[in-house]
Amino acid sequence: MSTIEQAAKALIAGKLVAFPTETVYGLGADASNESAVARIFEVKNRPKDHPLIVHIANVADVDFWAGTFPDYAKKLADKFWPGPMTLILPRSENAKDFITGSQDSVGLRIPKHPVAQELLQAFSNLGGKGVAAPSANRFGQLSPTDAAAVKVELGESLGQEDIILDGGLSDVGIESTIIDCTGDNPAVLRAGFISPQQIEQVTGLAVVEPTSGVRVSGALKKHYSPRTPLQLGGKAQAGEGLIALASYSTPAGVVRLAAPSNTEEFAHLLYQSLRKADELGLQKVVVIPPHGDHLAEAILDRLTKAAAK
Ligand code: TXA
Ligand code: MG
Repeated sequence: MSTIEQAAKALIAGKLVAFPTETVYGLGADASNESAVARIFEVKNRPKDHPLIVHIANVADVDFWAGTFPDYAKKLADKFWPGPMTLILPRSENAKDFITGSQDSVGLRIPKHPVAQELLQAFSNLGGKGVAAPSANRFGQLSPTDAAAVKVELGESLGQEDIILDGGLSDVGIESTIIDCTGDNPAVLRAGFISPQQIEQVTGLAVVEPTSGVRVSGALKKHYSPRTPLQLGGKAQAGEGLIALASYSTPAGVVRLAAPSNTEEFAHLLYQSLRKADELGLQKVVVIPPHGDHLAEAILDRLTKAAAK
C-alpha cells in the first residue's frame, strides 16, 4: 500500500493526518467525523468555537458542504483552485457545528500541492467528502512549512496511528487568502497570495470590508508567534537574528537567517527562518519587512501579529 493510500485509510478510520499544502502544512481529519475533528482541537489546544477549513478534491464537492455557490465565487474557484485560496460560503446541513464553530458559513479550499491533491483524491475514492484541516501548529504559534516543523509543534501529541506526510518546503509559505462569499460582494478576511486586485478582476465586483461578527482566529491581535522575541524594523545587534531582503546588508556579528530576493521568496522563507531563530536560541530576531505589493502587506499582517505582546 502506498503512503498516500495508507494516509487516506487512516483518515477514514478517524485518525489524524498532517499533510503539506502549497501555503502551510495542515492537520487533517475526516470532516464528517465529529470525534476525529475533536482530536484536532485537543492536539492543537485550539478554542472549540474556531471554525475549520474543509479541504476538498474537486469543485463538484462544494455542493456537499455549501448551501449556495454564488456566481462570483464560482468564478474565483474556476480561476484560483487548486490554489492558495479559501472561500467562505453559506453552509449546507452537512457542515456541522463542530466544523463551522456554529456559524452559518463554511470555509472550503482545494489545495494545489501534489501530495495534498493525491491524498484528497484517495480519500474521496474511499467515500470521504472532505478533510478538515487547520494549520498544523499549536494554537497561536507559527504555521509549519515543512514536515520537521510539524514534528516540533505536534509530534508529542500525535498518536501512533496518526501520520505526518512529508512534501518538502511549502511554496507560498503563508496561509491562504480567505474570501467571504456570503454577501453580494467578496470581502477578504485574511490577506494572502491572491490579491484583492485579482479578486476584483476575476469577479468584476468591488472587494468590500468584512462585516463584523465573522470569527477568524488569524484576526486575533497576537497570533503566528515564534518563541524568540521579534522586532519589526530597526537595527539588529551582534548576536541577534536578521531576516531582510538580500539588498539589506548584514551588520557585523548579526546572524543572517534569510536574504530573500523578492516578496514571494520572503513569504516562502519567512516561517522557516523564524523557526531557525528558535532552534538557535537567539535572544531576538529583527525582521525588516518588504514593501510595495499586496504580498508584502500580507507578510506585514503576519509579522505585526507575531510581534504583538
Ligand atoms: O493556508 C491555509 O489556509 C491553511 C492550510 C492548511 O489550508 N489552513 C489554515 O487553517 O490556515 P487555520 O485554521 O489555521 O486558519 C483558518 C482560518 C481560521 O482563522 C478560521 O477562523 C477561519 O479560517 N475560518 C474557517 N472557517 C471559517 C468560516 N466559516 N467563517 C469565517 N472564518 C473561517
Ligand atoms: Mg492557523
